[in-house]
Amino acid sequence: MLLIQDVIKRYGPITALDGVSLEVKPGEFFGLLGPNGAGKSTLMSLVAGLRSPDAGRLTLNGRPLSATDPAARAGLGLVPQSIALYEELSAEQNLRTFGALYGLRGADLRARIDEALAAVQLTDRRRDQVKTFSGGMQRRLNLVAALLHRPQLLLCDEPTGIDPQSRNAIFELLEARVRAGLTVIYSTHYMEEATRLCSRIGIIDHGKIHALGTLDELLMRLPFEEEIRFPAGPDTAPLLARLAGQGELTTLDGTHRFHPRADYRLSAFFTQTESLGLPARLFTSQRPTLEALFLHLTGRTLRE
Ligand SMILES: Nc1ncnc2c1ncn2[C@@H]1O[C@H](COP(=O)(O)OP(=O)(O)O)[C@@H](O)[C@H]1O
Ligand SMILES: [Mg+2]
Repeated sequence: MLLIQDVIKRYGPITALDGVSLEVKPGEFFGLLGPNGAGKSTLMSLVAGLRSPDAGRLTLNGRPLSATDPAARAGLGLVPQSIALYEELSAEQNLRTFGALYGLRGADLRARIDEALAAVQLTDRRRDQVKTFSGGMQRRLNLVAALLHRPQLLLCDEPTGIDPQSRNAIFELLEARVRAGLTVIYSTHYMEEATRLCSRIGIIDHGKIHALGTLDELLMRLPFEEEIRFPAGPDTAPLLARLAGQGELTTLDGTHRFHPRADYRLSAFFTQTESLGLPARLFTSQRPTLEALFLHLTGRTLRE
């Protein structure tokens, strides 16, 4: 459906996208996972036709996407990272305005507005000004405004706010629409969101796609199978020296994460911890996460 080939985008001396290629197929829930400044919004803006690339090609259903050909973008919806609503207007007036921009009107538009408000539990607030809404309510409205014209491809640029209730409402709506055939590109710096939602994920940093695949395919790229976590502190400090050379050791938020080499035996690990008198309850072993993969690929954390 969407084909992106060798795309480069610069802002003066900054190369925001440095040779990005990827393909999104119909019905995919595609995740673009990367930290702030990775190039996610820039890529979204190129697909949405808000900017043109300096090099490379973008096509939607075989047709070149360009900033000067709005017809090529009729099947696209964009949920921008910063909320794009008219604060002085009510929820309903906002949707009517966005619908009119797409040429919708009359009974059809009214029905779509009713459906949109109900989908994000805002029916009883339809006549209230958007400036009286919480951040999460604005996020929800921002999302359905982009769906009114029933696009085949929806671009969601970090569409979740902070309140968990709105986040779940957004997740559930997107999941239902993807089941009904919508294709979504979803950017986020939260690995939990990419893990929960996305059928395929591209890991982006410094304008480059570092890895692309399903969650399982991505995690298979790690040279280790598990991750043992334990708290950083004076108790566990002596253990670090003994783990040197046995695998990768990273530290995040006061927690050490030990990723043993493939040939390392976990029994050896617990022999070490026992000989140091460290209780087993300090340690948790789990499947590695996308965060571990990101660290492995880039040497950075997603929140840097
Ligand atoms: N309008 C702009 N002018 C100059 N630099 C920009 C502009 N937009 C983004 N950048 C730079 O391009 C890089 C990628 O930014 P962006 O695409 O916003 O990343 P993300 O959405 O992943 O946080 C960053 O270094 C950012 O500072
Ligand atoms: Mg962004």
